[in-house]
Amino acid sequence: MIRKIINISGTLLFNVDQCSIARAAAIIKRGGLVAFPTETVYGLGADATNEEAVCKIFKAKGRPSDNPMIVHVASSEQLLMVATSITDQVAGLTEKFWPGPLSLILPRAQNIPGVVSAGLPTVAVRMPDHPVALSFIRSAATPIAAPSANLSGRPSPTSYIHVLEDLAGKIDAVIRAGACPIGVESTVLDLSGKQPVILRPGGISREKLEDFLGHPILVDGPGCASDLPSSPGMKYRHYSPYAFLILVKGPPEERRCLIEILYARCRKRKIRVEILNSALDDGLLTRSANNKQAELAAKLFQILRDMDRRGIELILAEEIEPEGIGLAVMNRLQKASSMIIRVKGRIIRARKSM
Ligand code: TXA
Ligand code: MG
Repeated sequence: MIRKIINISGTLLFNVDQCSIARAAAIIKRGGLVAFPTETVYGLGADATNEEAVCKIFKAKGRPSDNPMIVHVASSEQLLMVATSITDQVAGLTEKFWPGPLSLILPRAQNIPGVVSAGLPTVAVRMPDHPVALSFIRSAATPIAAPSANLSGRPSPTSYIHVLEDLAGKIDAVIRAGACPIGVESTVLDLSGKQPVILRPGGISREKLEDFLGHPILVDGPGCASDLPSSPGMKYRHYSPYAFLILVKGPPEERRCLIEILYARCRKRKIRVEILNSALDDGLLTRSANNKQAELAAKLFQILRDMDRRGIELILAEEIEPEGIGLAVMNRLQKASSMIIRVKGRIIRARKSM
């Protein structure tokens, strides 16, 4: 049967049938770039063992060359191709959390060229929990290096439309599936040091990892001890909408009151303003109910991109509890913000974000 393949500015759009996935995998084997769905966000994949192919990813995304990427595997045999020092702890974590949104930083195996890890002796590796991703990696028969499939600095893509918005004409193909169910990226857990450290909060919560490991885990980032190892990617301003985003922190009633005041004033001055938290149905995101947090995580990047498309100039966002996946959402909001305002009683002080 001849299938019609859509071509957008030179980028092929594949469906998720076996034949299309095989064609996408053939592009990987030839050293090309294919964006594919995962349970977190879409990834921009290249053969992780092919240095030249991996270099194309940096170019297509405009990604700084000192920002390492995650290698995606579909089996434990592929894990052994990518990383060394597979200790009992690593085996336990992969058994419990893979396939799933947990990337482990481990010593890099020789098969993986240094460019994948921006020259670091370590490598980030994960097995995605998405049938299309797994079938694609199996069909390519090689581990696939893939950062998120967005232009560097833009909100991560949770739909193939977002990938095309950023990368049409710059990559060979996109596998078109539905929206990514988790909506924020994987948790990056560094196991290369003396103690495990979360370099980036994500789809697997800190609480779940602590339960499993049986001890508290440090989270790298603002407010943490400065001598911790750092994820190179986290120093860049990420997830940025075009709009100016103000994140309001503080006691719930007061921060909401401030948001209402700011909103009313902006409307009066004809500034195109929206409240991020109202973009969900009932606007009550600050409840720490897990399902509300998961809903915001799933829709966050989509909401930011929608607001950009509608020409919103100012986004007002209210902090949420940093529990469960809320920690990942707060991390992304902080990185997306242009300004953070902390409300303390009746005193309001503002500081520019990093
Ligand atoms: O959910 C995800 O993780 C998605 C999907 C596609 O799998 N991928 C993703 O990749 O978010 P990327 O490149 O956007 O983010 C990878 C993060 C960056 O913060 C990077 O600095 C960090 O992982 N990372 C990768 N390798 C590392 C290493 N060897 N040491 C420390 N951090 C590393
Ligand atoms: Mg990214």
